[in-house]
Amino acid sequence: MDRLIIRGGRRLEGTVQVRGAKNAALPQIAASLLGAAPITLNNLPDVADVGTMLTLIGQYGVQVDRSGPSSVTLNAANASNAEAAYDVVRRMRATLLVLGPLVARFGAARVSMPGGCAIGARPVDLHLKALTALGATVDLEAGYITAKASQGLRGGRILFPSPSVGATETAMMAAVLARGESEIVNAAREPEVRDLAQCLIALGARIEGAGTHQIRIQGVSQLQGGRQDILPDRVEAGTYAVAAAITGGQLELTGTRLEHLAAVGEALERAGVRLWPTDRGLMVSRPGPLRSIDIVTEPYPGFSTDLQAQFMALMTIAPDESTIRETVFENRFMHVPELARLGANISLQGTSALVRGVSALKGAPVMATDLRASVSLVLAGLVAEGETVVNRVYHLDRGYEALDRKLIRCGADIRRAAG
Ligand code: EPZ
Repeated sequence: MDRLIIRGGRRLEGTVQVRGAKNAALPQIAASLLGAAPITLNNLPDVADVGTMLTLIGQYGVQVDRSGPSSVTLNAANASNAEAAYDVVRRMRATLLVLGPLVARFGAARVSMPGGCAIGARPVDLHLKALTALGATVDLEAGYITAKASQGLRGGRILFPSPSVGATETAMMAAVLARGESEIVNAAREPEVRDLAQCLIALGARIEGAGTHQIRIQGVSQLQGGRQDILPDRVEAGTYAVAAAITGGQLELTGTRLEHLAAVGEALERAGVRLWPTDRGLMVSRPGPLRSIDIVTEPYPGFSTDLQAQFMALMTIAPDESTIRETVFENRFMHVPELARLGANISLQGTSALVRGVSALKGAPVMATDLRASVSLVLAGLVAEGETVVNRVYHLDRGYEALDRKLIRCGADIRRAAG
């Protein structure tokens, strides 16, 4: 398994191109199962999770034609709801996103339950609640979810007790082919949900209100072909913004926009980081001292849980104390003991972490545990004295395209070593 060897202490300077969002690409690839006409997705990130989703839909008979490193054309004309191999499904929770499209198009689906996850229990009850509200009968048996709607799905009202990105996407994709009107109440408002709706509308779906808590969908009998440019990855952008901030450097992030950072941008400014728009994207610079600030993760438009670990790495070298509260996932502090190995001073109390800033971190071997935790270790390694070795970087490759190469181009001393 590859590892990254980082020598810290270099100020980053240069340009980073931000790619399409992994969390927008995955549901849009799954959505290709809804129709029998080709759809082309552009600005696709070259990350392992996208590869897994393309392999998965290929197993359902979707023709997958790569037209360049960041474009793919998907044609589900000959697709079926035959079962996919567990070996592919177990690699990634987001494979669950094929359930909605399969039952909507074929009237039945049997999909493996997603496996365990480092960041929390992550139940799927809201996905099942959505399909039940659209008239499907749903069963859980022997590690599989079966959903049946032999007469097809019918429009319904889906009321979520709490906003879930995945369950909102499942509900939206299923309702697109349901007879009549559907309403999703307390829907997730993430930009990736809105981007999925835009993709479905480009294919002929009738959706209103995506990006708000209330989404209305008028079912159609079938979808047509179309194309979609995938939204830039706000989590990738936020990660590089922290890389500039933690090294006291300056980076221009192209292919994204300042407003994509939303609450994370505001938090960075409170912490002493300067951000301003450019013609190609945004500039991030940290000319002066950092400030310790508190953050609370929340569903969009709140501070993204997918940037909590990266922000914690930044706060480890800020002058005072900061409290970081995680409210979306119950176990998303796996990076804390690893950051402590680098000399960080962090104490955990339930869903909160108290970070007391230290004057310097020191390099050490550390272990990646999940996608965002692993990148926080890389960010800490960029400022730690001496050498940091991040093991099991396959976690990183799941969601970051060429992270080490992009950082090297901006002056970082990083090398990837096999085995
Ligand atoms: C999406 O996961 C993202 N993944 C996650 O990004 C992200 O952290 C999360 O949204 C929150 O923003 C993708 O888009 C592929 P949720 P998802 O359903 O859809 C609970 C990354 O690092 N819940 O909004 O799985 C759940 O346990 C990944 O890129 C239920 O209780 O997240 C959690 O506490 C990690 N029942 C909360 O809702 C359900 O049926 C929010 O989860 C579904 C969710």
